[in-house]
Amino acid sequence: MKISRWALVCILSGAFTEPAFAVDPQQIFSQGGPNPGVIACSTCHGADGLGMPAAGFPRLAGLPADYLTKQISDFRSGTRGNPIMQPIAQALSEDDSKALAVMLAKMPSPAVKPVTRAHAAKGPGEILALRGAWDRNIPECVACHGPSGIGVGATFPPLSGQSAQYLKSQLNTWRQQTRKNDQDDLMGHIARSLTDTEVEAVSQYFADLSK
Ligand code: HEC
Ligand code: HEC
Repeated sequence: MKISRWALVCILSGAFTEPAFAVDPQQIFSQGGPNPGVIACSTCHGADGLGMPAAGFPRLAGLPADYLTKQISDFRSGTRGNPIMQPIAQALSEDDSKALAVMLAKMPSPAVKPVTRAHAAKGPGEILALRGAWDRNIPECVACHGPSGIGVGATFPPLSGQSAQYLKSQLNTWRQQTRKNDQDDLMGHIARSLTDTEVEAVSQYFADLSK
């Protein structure tokens, strides 16, 4: 009797120390959520979370949890417009989205070639990335996105480890103002100041760092 009472106490106290998230993010990621609008993330973002370059689906693995949560909430509010992700974000609860973000942030990131700022920049993509174009008030991308574009904290996401297709599409969404979710319109200003050739070149440059 005593033992079973102890077992009961253990089970009950265990229930109180459960993590705050009642949902299983792994299940949502690979099978979808109870709400049919929550399509399994792996369908588009890959089982390893590294994305599908040809389709323009971004990598989520290894992105900072707070950046991921912010993007999901921006899709939900519409400050980041996208016909595929908006309904999915709207179908995700706040808890689901936080739990997914924490899980995704722990998934392995792709390897990235180290390039320091001292490197002699060649070609329009690398020159923008490492030197910027200060005559047009464009800072070098690595000033915010970190060396080799690996990202800095939860505010500045990694650029390396994403495909050229995805990077280019984001620069274009800022130019078209369907993405207007960054504070002070830093990226909006930068994207609108770039030429088409520069958008292509700088997207290819960062994509090639993880090949
Ligand atoms: C049907 C395909 C599809 C499914 C399923 C899907 N996504 Fe996406 N996701 C996309 C596309 C396309 C984009 C790029 C949107 C854009 O261009 O702004 C994206 C972008 C994102 C981003 C932004 C990444 C970044 O670097 O800013 C996050 C976060 C995200 N998805 C999370 C999720 C989560 C979590 C799930 C599962 C609940 C999910 N997605 C399911 C297609 C999908
Ligand atoms: C002054 C700081 C700053 C500089 C310089 C900067 N960025 Fe950004 N960038 C940001 C911020 C902040 C975000 C995230 C905005 C948000 O919250 O969605 C971002 C996001 C991005 C994204 C979206 C990534 C994703 O996962 O969706 C791309 C692509 C990008 N920047 C490209 C560039 C390129 C290319 C350059 C150089 C020409 C550059 N950035 C320079 C601040 C900067």
